[in-house]
Amino acid sequence: MVLANTDPERKRIVIQRVSQLPTLPTTLVKILQAAENPSTSSGDIALVISKDQSISSMVLKLVNSAFYGHFRNISSISHAIVILGMQTVKSLALGATIFRTQPGAGVAAFDRNAFWIHSIGVATMARRLMTKGAEAPGVDKETVFVSGLLHDLGKVVFDNYFNEEYREAARQAEEKKITIREAERLLLGLDHCEAGRFLAQKWQFPAPVLEAIELHHDMERAAAAGARVAALAHIADFGCQKINLGKSGNGKPSALDPRALEILNIPESLIAETFSEIEGEKEMIEGFGID
Ligand SMILES: [Fe+2]
Ligand SMILES: [Fe+2]
Repeated sequence: MVLANTDPERKRIVIQRVSQLPTLPTTLVKILQAAENPSTSSGDIALVISKDQSISSMVLKLVNSAFYGHFRNISSISHAIVILGMQTVKSLALGATIFRTQPGAGVAAFDRNAFWIHSIGVATMARRLMTKGAEAPGVDKETVFVSGLLHDLGKVVFDNYFNEEYREAARQAEEKKITIREAERLLLGLDHCEAGRFLAQKWQFPAPVLEAIELHHDMERAAAAGARVAALAHIADFGCQKINLGKSGNGKPSALDPRALEILNIPESLIAETFSEIEGEKEMIEGFGID
């Protein structure tokens, strides 16, 4: 039995553990070390990523997928870096690695495959909203895609490294009909937005990705910060839930905050059109399983 814990000390311990993450896969550590070294070239990063078959194939599968929007055949990681940029490929590789990591001894708190589809769905939808006219000046479409893909990173971190507490949080969210964020705060002292932001910051993700992770449920702060990518992730998160694409493990369904439309200065019709477009592509996105 895990007891509810709102003790600030608990929060401090969780944050400390999140920023240490002792059981990172070796490839992830190597990618991070290579990326942190100022003399590292994109070729060096490509070499590190290429050595791990499963990460390379995940990155290549993503960049070559029709819904990602590149219709050229990208066959090597170094080519992917040229097309997408080092930051994006690094973020994709890190995201793919952490999403594939399963809880050590425990059982996942939520359906990982359905969650991966949710993440791909949010990424695709956020990117599509941009293509259709939602503007985020200075941010490219690849970064928006990665932001959508990783917006719920904190949930995977909780599930992998605080599995027992997180299973209890998921159970309580379901039972008490509260949001998963409320349950997370109750059991772990902080929610997946805050935990994800700590990790993303440590990994030096680009600023729009950090914003999407931290603010996708908080349009008040997103509006104050002018965080357009967070608004895109918020709308896409709601959209995927509405068209029933994947599962976010959220407990009580979340509502669409109209402030997201104001931040992006877009009409409701653009959202409705995007939702139905993606709904038409559901099968293709659902086919993009994690295995
Ligand atoms: Fe979330
Ligand atoms: Fe989500």
